[in-house]
Amino acid sequence: MKHEGKIALVTGGTRGIGKAISLRLAQDGADIILNFKSDATTAEETAQEIRDLGRRVWVFQADMRDDKAIRGLTKTINEEVGQLDILVHNAAFGTMGSILRMGLFSWRAAMDINVTALLLLAQQLTPLLKVQGGHIIGLSSIGADMTFSEYANIGVSKAAMEALCRYLAYELAPLGIHTNAVSAGPIKTRAIDWFKYPHAVDNYATTKSPLSRMGTPNDLCGIVSFLCTPDADWILGQTIRADGGISMGEDFMDWLSDEERATEEAIKAKKRK
Ligand SMILES: NC(=O)c1ccc[n+]([C@@H]2O[C@H](COP(=O)([O-])OP(=O)(O)OC[C@H]3O[C@@H](n4cnc5c(N)ncnc54)[C@H](OP(=O)(O)O)[C@@H]3O)[C@@H](O)[C@H]2O)c1
Repeated sequence: MKHEGKIALVTGGTRGIGKAISLRLAQDGADIILNFKSDATTAEETAQEIRDLGRRVWVFQADMRDDKAIRGLTKTINEEVGQLDILVHNAAFGTMGSILRMGLFSWRAAMDINVTALLLLAQQLTPLLKVQGGHIIGLSSIGADMTFSEYANIGVSKAAMEALCRYLAYELAPLGIHTNAVSAGPIKTRAIDWFKYPHAVDNYATTKSPLSRMGTPNDLCGIVSFLCTPDADWILGQTIRADGGISMGEDFMDWLSDEERATEEAIKAKKRK
């Protein structure tokens, strides 16, 4: 198994994409340190799923907005676990809305949780990560380099996180630590409900992707697991985009009138027969 004997910390690893990554790393042989913020019941359920896979699991509550809590988490990992090979920073915060009305609380919270937490974790966990050669992965969003309505709060912070991953990759590679980011398009999780019109996000992804569907957490977890293997050693400081192709380009067909679209659909349906 590719991660046998390894230990991975996944921030926000108890639900959604973080949970899928935790389970996949566990299926691939790693023991898992689960971090969460507020939902201890869900955290315990995910921990049990990991135990059922025959892996060890530690569950540590820590708010990634709070630098003292992060210090406490890294101290506990040092004292109670004593080993770390993979760090996945998946926990995130964001508010939707106009950039002109964005409050300082939202701006700072997104920067603290999405960027500063990764900086502090990398600083404090590098001594453990470098022991056997480690991996750091940041979870990003295509909103970091594309522009979506009301998405500035998250998009800007994710762009900063991708830059941080690049600089970490540069500085930590000589210590044997590989850093990359994985950038996702819309993925079906609870987080989509924060959008004003969640169904519009679904329609957008389904229409734009040539795969004609929205992403799921399982579309990302194998990529993260692969990036943490020696087979990916030559990938360094990159942001791997995983969005079902929705950002490949525009399709003129999206701009047809309803009548023209109906004609095109009829032609396609005829061809499929
Ligand atoms: N869903 C998408 O469409 C999408 C697209 C692109 C990128 N992403 C990125 O993928 C990652 C996961 O997103 P998701 O959709 O899976 O989110 P989610 O379903 O809302 O899950 C969030 C997880 O993070 C934890 N968390 C939230 N705030 C935290 C904090 N301050 N400190 C520690 N843990 C915290 C939550 O713990 P509690 O339950 O205890 O609060 C939960 O385990 C994020 O980085 C997100 O930006 C998502």
